[in-house]
Amino acid sequence: MKPKLLFATGNAGKLRELRALVGDAVEVVSLKDLPPVPEPVEDGATFEENAVKKAREYSEATGLPALADDSGLCVDALDGRPGVHSARYAPGSDKDRYEKLLADLADVPEERRTASFRCALALVTGRGDEARVEVGRCEGLILRAPKGTNGFGYDPVFQVEGEGGRSMAELAPEEKSRVSHRARAFLLMRRHLLAL
Ligand code: IMP
Repeated sequence: MKPKLLFATGNAGKLRELRALVGDAVEVVSLKDLPPVPEPVEDGATFEENAVKKAREYSEATGLPALADDSGLCVDALDGRPGVHSARYAPGSDKDRYEKLLADLADVPEERRTASFRCALALVTGRGDEARVEVGRCEGLILRAPKGTNGFGYDPVFQVEGEGGRSMAELAPEEKSRVSHRARAFLLMRRHLLAL
């Protein structure tokens, strides 16, 4: 029988990417396929800590092997902020948050605008098991103004390294899913998932 895996996400795009990655080898279910379980509090100091906490709590609540992710943007000139606080860097919309970032970096010159998107994925297969953790990164620069309409979050202000000066929001979805922090973490996690 195929092993069953809970991917602790409500995000349909992330679920699609994971299913494409593991193919027929694993039956992937999401939070939407299960009765409601309490949502873990994401209070870790790192992406890894948050991902492990979520995977562990969901695995314990459901009795299934669980995979969870945590991601965000780390800006070097801001000592790694917004980091684990990316989703709450400013109240309001994604636009409000990237505008705050642009304002915070207004005096920072080109060569010091380096940043990376990071994604930690954690897999907990059962009670008492050590978590397997993989981290993917996507390097780039924070632009001075937004451009592009694809993606979400900080994509319009993040210029992706090696992509001809384009922002993440100017990449087609298939291109983003080749180079993104999440894609890289998924690829690293693949061997653990195929061994379930
Ligand atoms: P989550 O881990 O998917 O909840 O993402 C946390 C936050 O990090 C999001 O709300 C975004 O602000 C930011 N973030 C994570 N991944 C991306 C991405 O691929 N593009 C833009 N922003 C992202």
